[in-house]
Parts: sequence; C-alpha cells; structure tokens
Amino acid sequence: MSGLFVTFEGPEGAGKSTNLKVFAQALADAGCQAVVTREPGGTPVAERIREVLLSHHDEPMDADAELLLMFAARAQHLNTLIKPALARGQVVISDRFTDATYAYQGGGRGIDPQRIAALEEWVQGSVRPDLVVMFDVPVELGMARARARSQLDRFEQEQTAFFEAVRATYLQRAALNPQRYRVIDASGSLEQVRQAMQPVIDEVLERWRA
Ligand code: TMP
Repeated sequence: MSGLFVTFEGPEGAGKSTNLKVFAQALADAGCQAVVTREPGGTPVAERIREVLLSHHDEPMDADAELLLMFAARAQHLNTLIKPALARGQVVISDRFTDATYAYQGGGRGIDPQRIAALEEWVQGSVRPDLVVMFDVPVELGMARARARSQLDRFEQEQTAFFEAVRATYLQRAALNPQRYRVIDASGSLEQVRQAMQPVIDEVLERWRA
C-alpha cells in the first residue's frame, strides 16, 4: 500500500475530533487532501453498528459482544473505505482505531489483550497505522469536558477507574513503540495543542511527499 494511515487516539474530552479538523485543514492548505473518517463507523453499515455500540440499552451489553461489534465495524470500514484509499496513495486519518480497542475493551473492560490481538490479526492482516497521534489529558479534566459537551453516551457514563485504565493503556502502548506514536499534551488551550501538532503535521507532509 502506498498511502499513509494516521490514527487519532485519546481518552474522552481530549479534543481529538476538533484537533483532527485543524490537522486535516493544515494538510489541505499544503495540498494534501486526506480522507477523514472515524471508528466505530466510517461507512453506512459501520455507522449502524456505532449506533448500537454507543446508545443505551435496557440490558447491559456483554463485553465480548461489544468487542466483536467493534471489530465487525472495523472489518467493514477497513475493507470498503480505508484499504482502497491507501491503495490510491491517499493519507487516511481515522478518529480512533484498534488502539482504542486495547484501551477501552482491554484496559477498561479487562478483556485479555491476546484476544484482541487475535481479532486484530484476523480482521486487519498486516494493516497497522503508520502513525498514531495520541492526545493525552488527565482523566478528571477530560471527563469534565465531556460532561460539559453533550449527553453522555454508553462509554462516557463509565466511572473514573475505567478511564484511568483507558489512559494508562494508551500511554503504555505509546511508550512501547515510540517510533509509531506521537503523544500530545491536550490539557492546554486549542492554540497550544495546535502548536504541539505542528511537528506532526510537518512529518505527515514529509512522509506523504516522499
Ligand atoms: P468518540 O466519538 O468519542 O470517539 O466515541 C467513540 C467511543 O467508542 C469512545 O467512547 C471510545 C469507544 N471505542 C471503544 O470502546 N473501542 C474501540 O475500538 C473504538 C474505536 C471506540
């Protein structure tokens, strides 16, 4: 594949989606029109699965059912949108991908990461993000931002311990593989975060032009 696969990750309230718009606009201004997408979701079928995953239900959702639905949505998204765009040589930026599964279903729900790795192999084959841009924010600040924003979805209503585990898993994964991860402190203002993203924007443009 000749394109560049970039993912944006982080706990709730890290400002990921807003930062993604700024990032994609900066690429576009430099002549690089990225495909911007998200998980769970990104295609009509995967967006239907997202609705099931994020909405509230009369029964608790089983953790394995949740994990398998994440990967069902991912298979649809990867095969119908991400892989074809990479094959065309495009930069693809996904708001979340499999790191979120390790963080939320692994760290948060306590599912054995080996099970997640088995599904990752099955659904993705050799596809992994070229670069993971990880927005880090202390849990209390992130939760306060999420609460101020809108009605809480099924994940956002979890308790502090869940999000501490999510954040710790994200940071562990970044520390284990520093050549693939760029951790950005998202606790400051939008302008501060924009400045912190600039070297990553430059890096993506450089790799895209190479
Ligand atoms: P977002 O729009 O805030 O990114 O919402 C997506 C939610 O789904 C978020 O709470 C994280 C959760 N999620 C998982 O639990 N596992 C996953 O693999 C992905 C992609 C998202």
